Amino acid sequence: MSTAKMDILVGLQWGDEGKGKFIDHICPEYDIVARFNGGANAGHTIFWEDKKITLKLLPSGIFYPHIQNVIGTGTVVNPGQLKNEIEQLAFTCPELTFKERLFISKKAHLVLPTDKYRDSYFEHSDDYRTIGTTKNGIGCAYANKFLRHGFRVADIYTDGFTDEVEKVMHKAYLELVENGQEMIDFNAMMDEFLKDIAYLKQLSIIDTELFLNTSLKTGKRILAEGAQATMLDIDHGSYPYVTSSNTIASAACVGLGIPPSMTGEIFGVFKAYATRVGDGPFPSELNDGLADELRTKGNEFGSNTGRPRRIGWLDLPALRYAVMLNGITRLIMTKADVLNGMDSVDLCEQYEVNGELQEIATVDDTFCTALPKWKTFEGWRSDFSTITSEQELPRELRTYITFLSDQLEVPLSYLSIGPKRKDIIALECCR
Ligand code: IMP
Repeated sequence: MSTAKMDILVGLQWGDEGKGKFIDHICPEYDIVARFNGGANAGHTIFWEDKKITLKLLPSGIFYPHIQNVIGTGTVVNPGQLKNEIEQLAFTCPELTFKERLFISKKAHLVLPTDKYRDSYFEHSDDYRTIGTTKNGIGCAYANKFLRHGFRVADIYTDGFTDEVEKVMHKAYLELVENGQEMIDFNAMMDEFLKDIAYLKQLSIIDTELFLNTSLKTGKRILAEGAQATMLDIDHGSYPYVTSSNTIASAACVGLGIPPSMTGEIFGVFKAYATRVGDGPFPSELNDGLADELRTKGNEFGSNTGRPRRIGWLDLPALRYAVMLNGITRLIMTKADVLNGMDSVDLCEQYEVNGELQEIATVDDTFCTALPKWKTFEGWRSDFSTITSEQELPRELRTYITFLSDQLEVPLSYLSIGPKRKDIIALECCR
């Protein structure tokens, strides 16, 4: 059997592009789905047998019995949240067996209960910048990792783990209390955490690098699943209003320990418009009644936090930047149905920055001053519930997607026109 390549899927905007749904669609083509970054700050929504399920840390391949699912080295694992997610999924889908198909990297870092409180403290304290995080402690866990103070998953098997982690958590706890952060009782927190650790020990904790590289060598097909999205990348996003991990395609190699020479297709998912949750610049943002209308129609409320998402038109300079950074080979546009029935659809074609026109976002200190230059398209109107092929798509929508594919110089290969599994159309027109 010949060596296979690892394909990578990333979000091209500010998250919530519908990555989970598209992964679910292409899953049958893969043997392994592996999460490479982030933690339970993600919210990948999938419909399984008409049940709406939001995955936070579990990879989106979990619904297919033939797929092995990996929580990779580049992720951060909150044992309590993972336990809840597994138990909740087992409760909602009792006929789905997935625990034996789940593998966790020994080298992934743990999110400690105190990290969540520290995240909340940083968000509320006047001494620190407010980012609008999901308050899951993800940034604090990555900070511990880079300070080399972190605990990794395999550490839970070491003799001194309980004492060491208790010492670290207690110190953080006292600091938080001193700073006025409201906390639960320390002993209760510690007891709960140790129960969660005992649960984690029952799962398959393995050398995922070895597992994934060996799998590729034996011809197994891997899909690397990105969480959050390009504009939230810690280095290339709109810093400081970003997440705490690298979200772009190259991070899949680092986060999973797969060499760049072993990568294949890079899928980039984006919505037909733009959304952002949390603070930070958003050049194509809409602040009128139309934003409210689209928010309701598109159900644009955080799947993780329930926060209303900010809404804007599609931002082409930001998309050009994202396509460049990721080296996208195939584009997927989602939520075309949400714009259905509008007389016209706008799109930010360029920015004006300091009096100059910009085709591609630079996402530097000028980003928050970028003024959108709009282009208007004819709106589309159709009954999307009956569309099953490309030929049935309204002409105006075809014009819109052909324009995007030409501008981004990448084939637009799939279009999502509704929330259900069946609502994905493979495209030939933009190849
Ligand atoms: P954190 O990742 O919780 O630290 O939050 C940092 C920023 O990333 C905030 O603006 C969050 O709203 C945003 N963010 C984190 N995860 C997601 C996601 O899955 N979708 C959309 N935004 C996210």
